Amino acid sequence: MSQAAAPHAAHRNQDLPSAVREAGDRYIAANPESHRLAKMATANMPGGNTRTTVHFSPFPLYMTGGKGSRLTDVDGHSYADFINEYTAGVFGHSNGVIAEAIRTALSGGINLGAPTQHERLLAEEVQRRFPAMELLRFCNSGTEANLLALATARAHTGKEAVLIFDGAYHGSILYFTHGGSPLNMKFEWITSEYNDLERATANIAKHAHKLAAVIVEPMQGGAGALPGDPAFLKGLRKACDAHKVLLILDEVMTSRIDYGGVQRKVGVRPDLMTLGKYVGGGLSFGAFGGRADIMARFDPSRPDAYPHGGTFNNNVLAMSAGHAALTQVLSEERLTRMNALGDSIRERLNALAAKHDVPMVATGLGSIFGVHFHKGPARNAGDLDKFEHGREAVIGNVKKLFHLDMLAAGQYISRRIMGNLSIETTPAEANDFCAAVEEFLVTRGPAIRAALA
Ligand SMILES: Cc1ncc(COP(=O)(O)O)c(C=O)c1O
Repeated sequence: MSQAAAPHAAHRNQDLPSAVREAGDRYIAANPESHRLAKMATANMPGGNTRTTVHFSPFPLYMTGGKGSRLTDVDGHSYADFINEYTAGVFGHSNGVIAEAIRTALSGGINLGAPTQHERLLAEEVQRRFPAMELLRFCNSGTEANLLALATARAHTGKEAVLIFDGAYHGSILYFTHGGSPLNMKFEWITSEYNDLERATANIAKHAHKLAAVIVEPMQGGAGALPGDPAFLKGLRKACDAHKVLLILDEVMTSRIDYGGVQRKVGVRPDLMTLGKYVGGGLSFGAFGGRADIMARFDPSRPDAYPHGGTFNNNVLAMSAGHAALTQVLSEERLTRMNALGDSIRERLNALAAKHDVPMVATGLGSIFGVHFHKGPARNAGDLDKFEHGREAVIGNVKKLFHLDMLAAGQYISRRIMGNLSIETTPAEANDFCAAVEEFLVTRGPAIRAALA
């Protein structure tokens, strides 16, 4: 069952605020159990929430489970999943091979307080896919992986500052989207514009004396799936080499875009890199690593070793699930097929925006896409800000309406409009998704055009 009927032609004459109000009322009426659970949780957690990413107003949907490409919520609605755990759920739901690997590991005991063969096997597979990981270590999240990579770069170079790009998201306390965060680590950050090689090169040259590293996402995910130009990424490698600054590629999100990550696609080898999300088979996971001469300092038998504990660094469930996922589920052929389907969705969404004359653009790479209500280029956060400046409330309303209409049509996508496919997403589901977007553009197009005029 999907939620109450999605919008139809009768809504065409509505203005944007009335449309958003009505869609909100429809959402509240359709989801009483999610509403009840969300209210209850506010007694225990601020706003009822322990993960800002999955919160949206008036309240998020509570899920009961998932199978393959589909999710079911507590009110009994079924959805095609276009969030897929913000890229970590690349396998779809309840994958039997991964579940079996977890069950097998579980039966052997899970907190053994010792190395097991599982971490070596996973490390070997990670190295096979990402040869830049000459040596690596595991941790528990992408945030932690980036913190450790940055700390390693600073210790190795003896320099303090780090160059980041406006709009970057490297973790919950390494947050440079939407104006940053008061919780951020107090490193000396030097900010440059994404996809502006000239300015980045000048910044690297200017600050080289104190710059430990440049950290960059091959595609900025949190900023709205904005891909890095290959020439930009290659140019960063050159500038870092010229000025003896380490290049860290954060492939926590993008490594699934190609069997060897975007670094293989573009041909850029980082000094250090980070992984997270799906590599743990759907369990808590992070990894950082890179050049052997840098990472060797983590060898605990060295007198000058960097200490790096972490109770769950070699958690047997995550290590086993990750190994099974990479070796038995996530083949190159499946990744290629999934990413090609994502490319086709993006092309279709852009064609639909043109056909219906709505200022909308789909960005991204392969199986990860962003949707922006935007006119003009969308190469970096500055481009988006330029168009959105003074229109923040209107664009917020358009996104809210899009999101609520998609949910009503049985398409589970995020409020910030990021979509991620899984290997279980079918071409028919991609067609249904595009049809739901077309219905939205036909029905809501007049209100959006008027509001953004
Ligand atoms: C590029 C990137 N880096 C780091 C992270 C942080 O990973 P985690 O949520 O596992 O801490 C994310 C999470 O979305 C990410 O997209």
